[in-house]
Amino acid sequence: MSRPLASAAGPLRGRCRVPGDKSISHRTALMPLLAAGPCRATGWLDSADTRASLAAVTALGARTSLAAGELRVDATGAAGPQGIEPLVIDCANSGTTARLLLGLLAGWLPADGPGVVLDGDASLRSRPMARVVDPLRRMGARLDWRGEPDRLPVLVRGAQIRGCDHVLPVASAQLKTALLLAGLRADGTTTVRGGGDSRDHTERLLRVMGVETVAGEGDLLRVAGGVPVTGFDASVPGDPSSAAFLLTAAALVPGSRFTVAGVGLGAGRIGFLDVLARAGAQVEVVRDESGVSGSEPVGDVAVSGGELRAFAIAGDEVPGLVDEIPVLAVLAAACPGRSVIIGAEELRHKESDRLSLVAHNLGLLGAQVEERPDGLVVTGGRPLCGGTPEAPVVHLTGGDHRLAMAMAVAALVVTGETALDDGECVAVSYPGFFEDLARAVAD
Ligand code: S3P
Repeated sequence: MSRPLASAAGPLRGRCRVPGDKSISHRTALMPLLAAGPCRATGWLDSADTRASLAAVTALGARTSLAAGELRVDATGAAGPQGIEPLVIDCANSGTTARLLLGLLAGWLPADGPGVVLDGDASLRSRPMARVVDPLRRMGARLDWRGEPDRLPVLVRGAQIRGCDHVLPVASAQLKTALLLAGLRADGTTTVRGGGDSRDHTERLLRVMGVETVAGEGDLLRVAGGVPVTGFDASVPGDPSSAAFLLTAAALVPGSRFTVAGVGLGAGRIGFLDVLARAGAQVEVVRDESGVSGSEPVGDVAVSGGELRAFAIAGDEVPGLVDEIPVLAVLAAACPGRSVIIGAEELRHKESDRLSLVAHNLGLLGAQVEERPDGLVVTGGRPLCGGTPEAPVVHLTGGDHRLAMAMAVAALVVTGETALDDGECVAVSYPGFFEDLARAVAD
């Protein structure tokens, strides 16, 4: 449903918490399938995306409950689908659900069962899956395209899979995770190289579950199949990717100072803070030394606006800020000078083609944006102009939550009226986003 956006009446002030981390919430829902005991996570993100993972493990036979942010999953004794017909699991809009389940189910499902068909919405059906399916097939996984090659739906049937040495074609945490989780049910050892600086939540949660994956040489990870995997009791920190919208807004709106408390500070997640500092904002990070369940680093992050200047994002930084590029491109439109983002072709394979939509939407506001195959060049500093109340500028989100939130941040500094073609998609990762943003500006 279309949603009008508001410009900022004043600077952002005060502090808030953001909902739990989406990536960690997916993992704390799905990884209990591999555990020999019950699992519990507090601070769990209840959103459309993570609900897809929770529904999947429930359908696979785990006992699950969710109350007041406390998730419990006990998959001991869960046997997967029985009978003749495969179980259809709808991963909705969630690439993480689909890709992690491909790896997890490859060695988890019984070989004599009907298997599972993984499917998703139109956006997820358009996203590449061969990057996960091909290496899993090398491990002996039985995976079949049900429609077009490289796309969902995919039929997964159980098999005795074997360990393999993998080199990732992209530094993707989803891909790395899928292969590590498959490796836990494989014969022999599985190694994964090439994850680079991608987020390491899987490695951290596995450590809590009694499994060490870090092999000590560069980004090489290693798991031995068949090792014991215990349950966990974890707490989920605030999602830095959600905090990024509020913190970038604080960098954007002159005179702001805003704090997000209890944010995850894990590797591969807070590269955007370096970019905010390079763009002229002041960034203060106060780590909570007690940590969160020994598993994830956490702390408070405050951003104050400064004099904005153009910045560059290099390709090797992209895995560490991959979800923040849309909102950083919005910031670039307000930074005088030429900001350059390169090595970001992965953004074309997210919930939407984020490079193309962000360029389109900023262009509607009069920003000068050049779209390149692997990035954007934004010549910033021009005034951003919306439309009239009768004819607002309407941004296209492609149903992509991060596009919607990025353009809501842009609206803060737009003169004139803007709207989103779809505001409801924010429920994928941050259901209370519009309220939190409005409060930050009003406080
Ligand atoms: C995620 C990893 C990232 C990210 C996605 C969540 C994860 O994708 O964009 O929103 O939870 O592992 P890639 O690993 O494919 O870059």
